[in-house]
Amino acid sequence: MDKHHSKDLSSRLPGFYELPIGERIKLAKAFASLSDSEAANLSQFSTISPELADVFIENAIGTFSLPLGVATNFLINGEELLIPMAVEETSVLAAASHGAKLVRCGGGFDTTSSEPIMTGQIQLFLKGPVDYDLILSKNSQTLIDYANRGQDKLIQRGGGAKALSWRHIEEEDLLIIHLDIDTRDAMGANIVNTMCERVSGLMPELFDCDIGLRILTNLSDKRTAKAECCIPNSALDSKGFSGEEVVDRIEKAYKFAFYDVYRATTHNKGIMNGIDPVVIATGNDWRAIEAGAHAFAARTGTYKPMTHWRVDSNGNLCGTLELPMAVGTVGGVTKLHPTAQASLKLLGNPNARKLAEIICCVGLAQNLSALRALASEGIQKGHMSLHQKNLEMMRRQGASRY
Ligand code: MEV
Repeated sequence: MDKHHSKDLSSRLPGFYELPIGERIKLAKAFASLSDSEAANLSQFSTISPELADVFIENAIGTFSLPLGVATNFLINGEELLIPMAVEETSVLAAASHGAKLVRCGGGFDTTSSEPIMTGQIQLFLKGPVDYDLILSKNSQTLIDYANRGQDKLIQRGGGAKALSWRHIEEEDLLIIHLDIDTRDAMGANIVNTMCERVSGLMPELFDCDIGLRILTNLSDKRTAKAECCIPNSALDSKGFSGEEVVDRIEKAYKFAFYDVYRATTHNKGIMNGIDPVVIATGNDWRAIEAGAHAFAARTGTYKPMTHWRVDSNGNLCGTLELPMAVGTVGGVTKLHPTAQASLKLLGNPNARKLAEIICCVGLAQNLSALRALASEGIQKGHMSLHQKNLEMMRRQGASRY
């Protein structure tokens, strides 16, 4: 235990959540013997006011700052875009902008996306043999209609529960119902969970069962976005390597990730370097996106690279990235967070599908940039010159560990 922690103080603090923020910080300060300036660093507020922080989470004492940058050079479906990215890692913005610049040479990114269909799961414990296939097929529409009751606004906008399916887990005699819901421009977690809880109430009337979990799946594989690009090899000419060589080496780097899970993990981490910062800047749930992306990458049973790179018959380097992308542009933090609102405006106030497509483009650009550097001069040259600024700052603060 840290020597500054008092053994006499308990972390059991009933009613902590009801205290004003100032009182909470006082307690935390005393608990860890923080200095005035340390306590002040925990209790910073700027764009998120204390009132807002208290609305977003329980037990709030402050806010945590991250640098927010703008990635340049993005041309997506013929549209020029500046991309807001909130991230602490050196070289992410530079790499995204560089990747987008290369993609411009081939005419920019093309995107597509599915309808915004989220899936909720209901776990049922069967109490005896039952023809659930027959019963559920007969009652599907009734269950869907029941889920949609009270969701008039969503339905007016074209959303709502759309389909019902199920699977049986023999080992445990579990019946898992999947309810597909079009959540339109909302991320939709609340809508999905509400509908699942509602529909589950009807299940014991259909057959003898107990109800288990009712919750969305973050493997939202019916809500995907896809970005594609093709770059002429001449755009990849670099010191020491011709464009053709770089293209060939990038394709081989992709194959390395395809056949090697250790490399696939790092390859995909690099993609998430592009994705998470946009998800964060727009006020979306990056843990949901992370969970969905990695599960999708493992959907064949083996963890694979999220992107796919190939050389076309003209020697161009062509890449695609398709991922589940459950992001929203209405409701929740997206609406309440002033920076998220401004970030969305910077992107031209996209709807959820367009935002999902933009995010995939950033992931693809990020991966391209990393692979280009790794397959030619190596990552450290560019990385270390940018990282130098960090080291300088640490030296000035006398905190260098290097
Ligand atoms: C570093 O944050 C990301 C990279 O390791 C990604 C990759 O290796 O593809 C450079």
